[in-house]
Amino acid sequence: MQQVKVFLNEDEIPRQWYNINADLPLQNPLLEPPDKKIATPEFLGAIFAGNLLEQSVSTERWIDIPEEILELIYRWRPSPLKRAVYLEKALGTPAKIYYKDESVSPPGSHKPNTAVPQAWYSKQMGITKITTETGAGQWGSALAFACSLVGIECKVYMVRISFDQKPFRKIMMRTWGANCIASPSNETKAGRDILAKDPDTPGSLGIAISEAIEETLADKSGKTKYALGSVLPHVLLHQTIIGLEAKKQLEKINVKKVDVVIGCAGGGSNFAGLAFPYVYDKMNGADIKIIPVEPTACPTMTRGPFAYDYGDTSEIAPIAPMHTLGHTFVPPPIHAGGLRYHGMAPQVSQAIIEGLLDPLALHQSECYEAALMFAKTEGLIIAPETSHAVAAVIQEAKKAREEGKEKVILFNLSGHGLMDLAGYQNYLDGKLKDYSLSDEELKKYLESIKDMPIPIGA
Ligand SMILES: Cc1ncc(COP(=O)(O)O)c(C=O)c1O
Repeated sequence: MQQVKVFLNEDEIPRQWYNINADLPLQNPLLEPPDKKIATPEFLGAIFAGNLLEQSVSTERWIDIPEEILELIYRWRPSPLKRAVYLEKALGTPAKIYYKDESVSPPGSHKPNTAVPQAWYSKQMGITKITTETGAGQWGSALAFACSLVGIECKVYMVRISFDQKPFRKIMMRTWGANCIASPSNETKAGRDILAKDPDTPGSLGIAISEAIEETLADKSGKTKYALGSVLPHVLLHQTIIGLEAKKQLEKINVKKVDVVIGCAGGGSNFAGLAFPYVYDKMNGADIKIIPVEPTACPTMTRGPFAYDYGDTSEIAPIAPMHTLGHTFVPPPIHAGGLRYHGMAPQVSQAIIEGLLDPLALHQSECYEAALMFAKTEGLIIAPETSHAVAAVIQEAKKAREEGKEKVILFNLSGHGLMDLAGYQNYLDGKLKDYSLSDEELKKYLESIKDMPIPIGA
């Protein structure tokens, strides 16, 4: 009998997060609009909870996870590590494929790993309301869940195309007590301006972020703050519990070496959560291939330059050093809503320019084909975002077969796709389209950052 699942008990959970700032310091600070000067604590503190900002800039390698947060996340953590023996068999590969199953959280993805700490730290600061954006609805539902656990009000601006395609995510948010509206909306100036120009816009994460930040800044009491579900250092920090658990689980079954680590990357958080503890090993001499996977339709890492860019469309969010397609980028309507952000986390971008990662872009049709194979072998119906990781895993497992090598491949199963069945339906009906960004389109979007300062490393 092969061991298919590896569990940790509650008392074996990692009690600290890994902070990559200690080993891969960011070379470029955040800037403040409109002057593009180094962002002041007052500017950032008006948007984000102060204690989370402190975590973002901390250079301590290990940061304690408060006991109260552990008690909240025991609802689903530690998450299982599984070996995809049925997929391995179907592929006829000598590779051993392991995955962290983050679909077991109540909202169904890795997102609560940071939503719960963010809600908890916000509550410590006396914050009573959190605003946010959501693409696919995974982040919005995770934050709605987290706010309900700690007793904070939650307002979610959901990208219009997902709002229309994914009605059940809205109901989940409402069930946990949040208020979810379509973005762009008439509730903010950012939303109204965009609707005036393009009433039929599918929306974008950049627009939804503008709206959520505008609502936060409008509350002069300071009791409303904005929470971001990816990109920022503290978000990636909270997600490292995934990779730290994986290491303990692999140790338990005597797997000494991981050869390939894979995660899909939208803003970079689930990828970094699994990968950063392995990036640490790589920086200390380990031979590991680490692959963040993105859609060809939104090729931030593989075609976007490393540059300073706004986090949002309306130019009110902090300006970050990152691989970017330009903040005016409006992504094609691919189904992986969570992979349509124009930028990539500064820490992931920094790891790319340091040569520590091997980013890959894939078409959604290849990803759905992989998702179907995964469903028919392992059983789980994965999120369209996650299917990008699985398609890359299949590529690597086939390579191992050709080379006759017994490689260990580890990937992050970032979420289930049970609320994303419309994408599966389109694929099964043969209606799915692939999109590539043309050079002309890319050039047009990058016009929006031509006057930005040049970050170190660009
Ligand atoms: C299931 C799932 N995976 C991955 C992502 C991508 O986000 P990130 O790159 O921050 O992990 C999302 C975002 O919505 C998601 O819902």
